[in-house]
Amino acid sequence: MGKLAINGGMPVRDVKAHPWPAWPVWDENDERALLEVLHSGVWSYNGPKEREFDRLFAEYVGVKHAVSAANGTVTLQLALEALGIGVGDEVIVPGLTWQATAASVIDVNAIPILVDVLEDTWCIDPAAVEAAITPRTRAIIPVHLYGSFADMDAIMEIARKHDLYVIEDCAHKHGGEWKGEKAGSIGHIGSFSFQLSKHLTAGEGGVMTTDDDEVAERLDALRNCGRRPEGEPEGEVDKGAGHYGDEGNFIQSGNYRITEFQAAILVEGLKRLPAQNRRRDENAIYLNSLLEKIPGVMPMRRDERETAEAYFNYSFRYRKEEFKGLPVERFREALAAELGVDVEPSYEPLNDCALYVPHTKPARYRLNEEYWKAIDPKRFDLPVCTRIYREESVTMHHKVLLGSREEMEIIAGAVKKIYDHAEELM
Ligand SMILES: Cc1ncc(COP(=O)(O)O)c(C=O)c1O
Repeated sequence: MGKLAINGGMPVRDVKAHPWPAWPVWDENDERALLEVLHSGVWSYNGPKEREFDRLFAEYVGVKHAVSAANGTVTLQLALEALGIGVGDEVIVPGLTWQATAASVIDVNAIPILVDVLEDTWCIDPAAVEAAITPRTRAIIPVHLYGSFADMDAIMEIARKHDLYVIEDCAHKHGGEWKGEKAGSIGHIGSFSFQLSKHLTAGEGGVMTTDDDEVAERLDALRNCGRRPEGEPEGEVDKGAGHYGDEGNFIQSGNYRITEFQAAILVEGLKRLPAQNRRRDENAIYLNSLLEKIPGVMPMRRDERETAEAYFNYSFRYRKEEFKGLPVERFREALAAELGVDVEPSYEPLNDCALYVPHTKPARYRLNEEYWKAIDPKRFDLPVCTRIYREESVTMHHKVLLGSREEMEIIAGAVKKIYDHAEELM
């Protein structure tokens, strides 16, 4: 029996006796809010909870409009549609992200252009963006990945110079701030996800943020079968129709609405978010300070322009040379065994990703040969994304950052233990 838990040794954390903080978080206020919706009979359809949440979220992000929708995938698609992006257009996206960032571009018949990321933040590399611009480029979708912020100064500067739209993919960044401005308020549209793992969640859901009145009206119609808003409802809310008319549809679209149950949960979750973000941030700063003392462990670079962090997952970079050549997969397994939590790699690079396979679309989506070639992910070279995924990335659920300061010491202690006993795994 070795010292390491993966070899039968004593783990640094007995998770049965001391479980990590649970996720999702909820309390009696969520229960009350859900029951209120249940008893009201207004379960969906542009109801009062949805309007309340949209107003509160817009206020929180510091924009004029927030428009809720079914999830953080369709919010990207509708954002592209609202900006008129489609056939013949190119949209620049990072090669290291959840597949939806690029897949949504294909869903509007445009071409995702995959570019590399910065090795110390894992966010889109502005120099790679600049190099990828062609006369067909219409938009950039920076993703604020895990605990990092894309360099929004550089991205907005490039966008201004080349007259491009910026859609911020903020699926990981509810409440993060760049020079005092919230994620989702810097680009033309912000897109958020409320899927279960996200730090503001209703199980599923999403929201789009913008300061542009016209874009907001289009987004609102696009998520609601193309209906045009008819102003605030008078008197009792109509349980069937909300406050949207069926006459004079002004955009062809589908149904991407959220329900009142989701909105009710989101209103409650939003009250907790600022304190949770602060706690995750304090803990991550402390954990970074402990981990950076261990050779071969590189915490993510915190840009000093980030005035408030919003961690979705805690991640760091690993260098096996300092761990006696121990491959990162084995390191992750050993860490998971010590801590009793899942320890994962980053997303797969999109040029080699099991879930991003545009050519599996049925033949009738093949607009033409040129388009088919253009959307082939394999044509893009993403050496930094590939290295991060294959050799360096270590990520954990953000729930660990809701723990105590002592628990951060336990995480760092587990990494140090593997460093000290790496030879056991060779
Ligand atoms: C970066 C990013 N963009 C978009 C999405 C899509 O969000 P959803 O799962 O709500 O469709 C996700 C979800 O994980 C994501 O991580």
